[in-house]
Amino acid sequence: MTTALREAFAGKNVLVTGHTGFKGSWLSLWLHDLGARVSGLALAPDTQPSLFEQLGLARLIDSRLADVRDAALVEKILSETKPEIIFHLAAQPLVRLSYDQPAETFAVNVQGTANLLDAVRRAPSVRVVVVITTDKCYENREADYAYREDDRLGGRDPYSASKACAELVVASYRDSFFKKDSRVSLSSARAGNVIGGGDWAKDRLLPDCMRALAAGKPVTVRNPRSVRPWQHVLEPLSGYLTLAARQLVEPEKFAEAWNFGPAPQDARTTAQIAELAVRGWGSGRWSSADADPSAPHEAGLLKLDSSKARARLSWTPAYGADQAVAKTVAWHLAAAAPGFDALAFTRRQIEEYAGTARNPSADA
Ligand SMILES: NC(=O)c1ccc[n+]([C@@H]2O[C@H](COP(=O)([O-])OP(=O)(O)OC[C@H]3O[C@@H](n4cnc5c(N)ncnc54)[C@H](O)[C@@H]3O)[C@@H](O)[C@H]2O)c1
Repeated sequence: MTTALREAFAGKNVLVTGHTGFKGSWLSLWLHDLGARVSGLALAPDTQPSLFEQLGLARLIDSRLADVRDAALVEKILSETKPEIIFHLAAQPLVRLSYDQPAETFAVNVQGTANLLDAVRRAPSVRVVVVITTDKCYENREADYAYREDDRLGGRDPYSASKACAELVVASYRDSFFKKDSRVSLSSARAGNVIGGGDWAKDRLLPDCMRALAAGKPVTVRNPRSVRPWQHVLEPLSGYLTLAARQLVEPEKFAEAWNFGPAPQDARTTAQIAELAVRGWGSGRWSSADADPSAPHEAGLLKLDSSKARARLSWTPAYGADQAVAKTVAWHLAAAAPGFDALAFTRRQIEEYAGTARNPSADA
């Protein structure tokens, strides 16, 4: 995998929005190590600790702190950094927070995406844009069904609805401005519930587990029966990179929406994932949170069908849910030990993953 990706990205100017976040930090490091000249656009990290700071990314990439709601500043950063490829990850990504801050969530996730794409219209350097949305952008029928790219968009909570709206913004900009013969190839990518080392966000299952286990406290699990498509962070990132590499070569053919979910058997309940985390940690226990009738609605069942990415990008998940949890726990066990070198450890996990994953160069 590494050879194909290095050929695509080495020496290229790449902008990652949301580079100070969990997925953006992993992606920025991976791109940097592939030889890309990486710049980033995001707010300052809002967790303590943060993977961005643990990796020392500010020393490796051109990090710009800016708000995607500031259209003029977004345009200025594009004109200064001259990206050829953009991965748009900057977002308010938490369902529960979106109930507290709905208007802000829509402003960041919808208007922010429009601001970026509008700046792309006036940024002659840009050839490829991948907008990261989510599996939650589909209208959830709570049925045992894996959503495909042409299923109806929707979303009950403000986060999911904002990401469905972002998908509409992408489709509109593609059809209105980046038509098939334009210089810009614009795609969107929908991944599942991502886990991995260095996610310190609030109200997410694995970060909650890691914090509790490291503190010697019992893990409390909300909605233990909810089924989610769990995957290691490097799985969707390898999908985004593979997709962008294909867009560079055949811009028209790949300017579409793509799912990058885990294999069907890796759609697991939150209870199963918590159990794996506790066993991997080697001590501790988990229990269900008391049912809270006033808790905001969260989808109970969510599965993604990634057969399109498998068939047309030759992208396929390399890790199952067990391995994804094991890699996450290994990262956090190492982080809890004195003298942890986050950069070296994270790099090693990227190299291991790239060595395991299938070479994405073939096309059907
Ligand atoms: N983590 C998951 O399980 C998951 C699943 C599906 C999709 N996603 C999507 O992947 C992307 C990254 O998610 P994450 O888990 O790394 O989240 P994160 O919270 O760790 O990172 C979010 C990033 O967006 C930036 N950001 C937020 N508001 C901003 C603003 N107003 N202006 C500029 N930057 C802003 C933050 O500074 C940060 O860099 C998001 O688009 C999210 O919706 C995440």
